[in-house]
Amino acid sequence: MIVMGKFVVEKSGPLKGEVVVDGAKNSALPVLAATILTGEECVIENVPFLKDVEIMLKLLDLLGAESEFIADEKKVIINCGKIENISLPYELVKKIRASFLIAGPLLSRFGCVKIQMPGGCQIGVRPVDLHLKGFSLLGADIKQEHGSIEINSNVLKGDNIYLDFPSVGATENIIMAAVLAKGETNISNCSVEPEIVDLVNFLSKMGAKIEGAGTDTIKIIGVSKLSGVKHKIISDRIEAGTYMIGAAATKGDLLIKNVVCEHLRPVTAKLKDMNVNVEERGSEIRVYSFGDLINTDIKTLPFPGFPTDMQAPFMSLMAITKGTAIINETIFENRFMHVGELNRMGADIKVESKSAIVKGVDKLTGTQVKATDLRAGAALIISALAAEGETEISDIYHIERGYCNIEDKLRKVGAKIRKIE
Ligand code: EPZ
Repeated sequence: MIVMGKFVVEKSGPLKGEVVVDGAKNSALPVLAATILTGEECVIENVPFLKDVEIMLKLLDLLGAESEFIADEKKVIINCGKIENISLPYELVKKIRASFLIAGPLLSRFGCVKIQMPGGCQIGVRPVDLHLKGFSLLGADIKQEHGSIEINSNVLKGDNIYLDFPSVGATENIIMAAVLAKGETNISNCSVEPEIVDLVNFLSKMGAKIEGAGTDTIKIIGVSKLSGVKHKIISDRIEAGTYMIGAAATKGDLLIKNVVCEHLRPVTAKLKDMNVNVEERGSEIRVYSFGDLINTDIKTLPFPGFPTDMQAPFMSLMAITKGTAIINETIFENRFMHVGELNRMGADIKVESKSAIVKGVDKLTGTQVKATDLRAGAALIISALAAEGETEISDIYHIERGYCNIEDKLRKVGAKIRKIE
């Protein structure tokens, strides 16, 4: 049941203090799906306690996995030894796109998968054609009808796979379908996101033979068995970047802990362009700004380009920064839903096809707004912290999909934010 909660956010003085970042949602989800590839127990640490993770674990439990999420230790103990290949209820599958990431592992494990087409979402159609292209090149036979996909293969054989677009999910799914296939698979033009590297590190520990993670070509030599292992999820670079932008937007001074600075380079670079101070300190990063900011253009690109998931939060900062700047969203076709909500707060933003022209205004004013997806929701919180008066943000279940305890973490550094059911 979706909890139709709201956040009430008042103009908050400079955010000051420390924020501890959790494990990466977009790494935990593929890693949990990958536990299907072994019949032995896996222990996954630094797992963020999020709705999306809960749903992934529910899907795995429905397949017959035995899992335990020890929330206060941020640890998942899971054993997929007894899973069966049943088809999962659409009601649950449609809740998270990442549910499609169980296709590759199930195909590897059982040689067949019957799964619902994941729906689109607010930010785009979200096709899975590249995932399916990879599976069929590995020898699988694919049938699509009435919204569900049946993938069958007697034996998966390695092949050369070119991805027309460096899709994160397709790269992950194809790797998980290839690790137990016969022979060698080469995936070219694949995603180089840090979450791919984390998944490959997990699979390699399990005994997979994979080279090239983090580059645009990954080579996989199929093996016959994978073992259960312990793995710690990398820090969430999108959560960290969101708090970096919050510090800048409130002219605050935040020390953000448990980060990987090199994963944050694109956000750091653009904040520095805007005259924000960013100091990298090992696994911590200090962001502070006292002087006037200057607007700068951003263009979203696959890693190491500026992340599309940072586009909405960054727009909130640009909306209150002197000067006019352009955002070019090249990854998703419909990721500007937050523009309407920001303009209702007094922002001056125009959308022209895949670009948004942001004209900085002196101030925004609080009003009632709606979160349309998880990053747009985070953007509205940032705007509300800087806006005059009070802002009421509804549909916050979007936000809670991707941010652990965001209101507690913000309150600890001086934000006036409370949740009302
Ligand atoms: C992952 O989604 C992330 N989700 C997204 O984060 C993130 O925005 C996205 O990568 C891009 O970085 C998870 O990791 C769970 P893609 P994914 O496949 O894998 C097109 C968030 O906010 N495409 O790289 O679905 C697609 O339409 C979420 O945490 C195809 O055309 O992204 C899109 O335009 C939102 N065919 C582009 O590629 C395919 O078969 C990027 O999609 C697959 C994708």
